[in-house]
Amino acid sequence: MTASTPSHTAPCAIVTGHTRGLGAALADLLLARGIRVLGLGRGTNEAAGRRHGEALVQATIDLADPAALERWLATDALRSFTGEARCVLLFNNAGTVDPIAPCGTQDAGAIARAVTLNVAAPLMLANAIAAPGAAHPEAERRIVHVSSGAARNAYSGWSIYCATKAALDHHARAVALDAPHGVRISSVAPGVVDTGMQATIRATGIEQFPLRERFEQLKQNGQLATPEAAALQLIDYALSDAFGSTPATDVRELAKA
Ligand SMILES: NC(=O)c1ccc[n+]([C@@H]2O[C@H](COP(=O)([O-])OP(=O)(O)OC[C@H]3O[C@@H](n4cnc5c(N)ncnc54)[C@H](OP(=O)(O)O)[C@@H]3O)[C@@H](O)[C@H]2O)c1
Repeated sequence: MTASTPSHTAPCAIVTGHTRGLGAALADLLLARGIRVLGLGRGTNEAAGRRHGEALVQATIDLADPAALERWLATDALRSFTGEARCVLLFNNAGTVDPIAPCGTQDAGAIARAVTLNVAAPLMLANAIAAPGAAHPEAERRIVHVSSGAARNAYSGWSIYCATKAALDHHARAVALDAPHGVRISSVAPGVVDTGMQATIRATGIEQFPLRERFEQLKQNGQLATPEAAALQLIDYALSDAFGSTPATDVRELAKA
């Protein structure tokens, strides 16, 4: 895959958790379309850096550390990345399914990290990108929260994950009512995707996650989406005229529409 050279007004995208899984696929596919990417992660994606050169900018930040994110947002890194782009996409993708355990047995620190990573960081980034000064005055801003079916269905063992993903859905609904100028938002569940997160789920004890067998069967039966297929659906939706018409949706519903 070779990177094409984006024009200075071409869309650009911010992708959190671009180091692996769905986020790495999002970054690769966006870059292959000539869309510059700013990847925010705890580490860097060396392979993507080699493939795409300067079109991929990487900032190292622990998104479970709200003070670190606040400090980064106070710099001009976001504004200098967005430049003259007339469309800025934000994929709030980084997330964790941990802690997987019934309430009363969860690690307090793990709860705090999950809520910060899954909720505080996406909300802080959405606020930053919607601010008038974050991009060219004529730039449209499109915010994609990467949600989950767990936002809409409750699963035993996933109380923290379910609560955090439901928070993203409800944030998108309320922001859609704010209707900030030039801002569209949607919280989108990507389906069940074959990533490290699914490996974590399959490695969890039945006592912690009684539904583990269902996820083992999905893997065995080849029913997991590839990260590339899920990323393609998210990107096509984010760039479509319909984007934001439904503040909370699912790629499986979009595929039927
Ligand atoms: N896989 C699924 O079936 C599925 C289904 C529904 C929704 N989702 C959602 O899709 C998104 C991506 O999931 P995935 O399956 O690709 O998960 P994954 O394979 O576990 O990857 C998670 C990504 O988030 C990054 N990340 C984790 N903690 C971070 C932190 N503290 N600061 C910065 N980055 C951090 C990881 O970076 P490191 O390399 O630094 O760990 C990695 O790039 C998540 O929001 C998840 O909830 C996934």
